[in-house]
This record gives sequence, structure tokens and C-alpha cells, in this order.
Amino acid sequence: MHIRGITKADFDEIVSVMDQWWGGPSGLRPEPYFFYEFGHHALVAEEEGALAGFLLGFVSDREPRTAYVHLVGISPNHRRRGIARGLYEEFARRGSALGATTLKAITTVGNEGSVEFHRAMRFEVEHSPDYAGPSRARYVFTRALSD
Ligand SMILES: CC(C)(COP(=O)(O)OP(=O)(O)OC[C@H]1O[C@@H](n2cnc3c(N)ncnc32)[C@H](O)[C@@H]1OP(=O)(O)O)[C@@H](O)C(=O)NCCC(=O)NCCS
Repeated sequence: MHIRGITKADFDEIVSVMDQWWGGPSGLRPEPYFFYEFGHHALVAEEEGALAGFLLGFVSDREPRTAYVHLVGISPNHRRRGIARGLYEEFARRGSALGATTLKAITTVGNEGSVEFHRAMRFEVEHSPDYAGPSRARYVFTRALSD
């Protein structure tokens, strides 16, 4: 596995594989600003030259400075091989270098695979009923970056 920064060609590929990798339309989108404005923090993993996974995130400028994962996806053919773990570790390393002290991600209720992945990554898991607005619940995952 090789992890590197995202290119426009990667972003275009992510947009086209997204629904297939999620097994149907996802509530979350790979919004273009994650390439154009935050692309410095976006990562892809490739195996034998093919896109195997991606992580779109950014480092916030409010306290506590947070390395925030907006969207992470691994190709169904490449799951359970440590690729998401590798992307998180690289994103955490880059976030720490920029002064972030917290790692954070959110997931929609019902995405149990994501919840189990974040538990395995030693995140604290909180169910927040109105996180995304009235009755728009999310699981919120946080972890100190010094851990
Ligand atoms: C969730 C997701 C990102 C995990 O990616 P992955 O590369 O398969 O994860 P890893 O191989 O790094 O998993 C590390 C550990 O997390 C846990 N884990 C990962 N996926 C899991 C699942 N579906 N169920 C239970 N535990 C899981 C395991 O403990 C795993 O270690 P192990 O394989 O040695 O048992 C991937 O399944 C995916 O892309 N899902 C669809 C998109 C999505 O839901 N994204 C997250 C919300 S934005």
C-alpha cells in the first residue's frame, strides 16, 4: 500500500466510485472543496497503481485544534487489510505536525461497520441525537492525538 496526497484525477475517480463503494447512495458527498480548498489534507491509498481508498479531511483552526475526517472509503475489494487504519495514521501524523491535538470523525446512525472500525481505532464513541440539526443524529468519534 502506498499513501500519498490526492490529485484531481483521484478526486474524479472517487466521485465516480463513491456509490458503488458505499453499496448505494450515501448521505455524504466528496464535496469539491475537499480537493480545491482542503486538498493538502486529503489522502489516497493505492495498491499496484489502483485506487484502494481515500480520506478527505482538514485541520481546523479553532481550539482544540482538530484533525477532522469528513469522509473515508475503502474499495470493497481491499477491506479488512488495514488500509483505513494506515490512512488514519498518516492523517493523524500530518495533523499532529500542524499542531492538532484531537482527531475527530462522524458517522450516520446505522453505519455499524464504521462504528466498529472507529472503536478498533481507540476512538471514544458518542451518540449525539441533534448533532446535524433537529433529530439528525450522528455518532461522534474523538481521540486525543497524543495517544
Ligand atoms: C469502514 C471502512 C472505512 C473500514 O476500512 P478498512 O480498510 O476495511 O478497515 P481496516 O482494515 O483498517 O480495519 C481496522 C480494524 O477496524 C475494525 N473493522 C473495520 N471494518 C470493520 C467492520 N466492517 N466490522 C467490524 N470491524 C471492522 C477491525 O477491528 C479491523 O481490524 P481487523 O481487520 O484486523 O479485525 C470501510 O469498511 C469502508 O470504506 N466502508 C464504507 C464507507 C464508510 O462507511 N466509511 C466510513 C464513514 S464516512
